[in-house]
Amino acid sequence: MPKLIVVTRDGEEREVMGDAGLSVMEVIRDNGFDELLAICGGCCSCATCHVHVDPEFAAKLPPMSEDENDLLDSSSDRDERSRLSCQIPFTDALDGLKVTIAAED
Ligand code: FES
Repeated sequence: MPKLIVVTRDGEEREVMGDAGLSVMEVIRDNGFDELLAICGGCCSCATCHVHVDPEFAAKLPPMSEDENDLLDSSSDRDERSRLSCQIPFTDALDGLKVTIAAED
């Protein structure tokens, strides 16, 4: 079971284990981080699952779709590390992935 490191908006860092096959958003949500709202449930239409991904893992992530890119544009906290966590399948290759929950818009 791969490990995910989640940094909250307060800067608290916590390691959780997640099932490969879930999305990164589902792993975060299922581990009780209620500041990640994920309002649309993962269908890429809300941007409330926005995270900043550790650059070390950038090359291992799937490419961003046009929809994801457009949604991220609506966030004032967007930077080059921004992704929607529901669009990242959690896999063994991402073991040790570190994500920081983005500021609320
Ligand atoms: S949960 Fe809504 S876009 Fe990711």
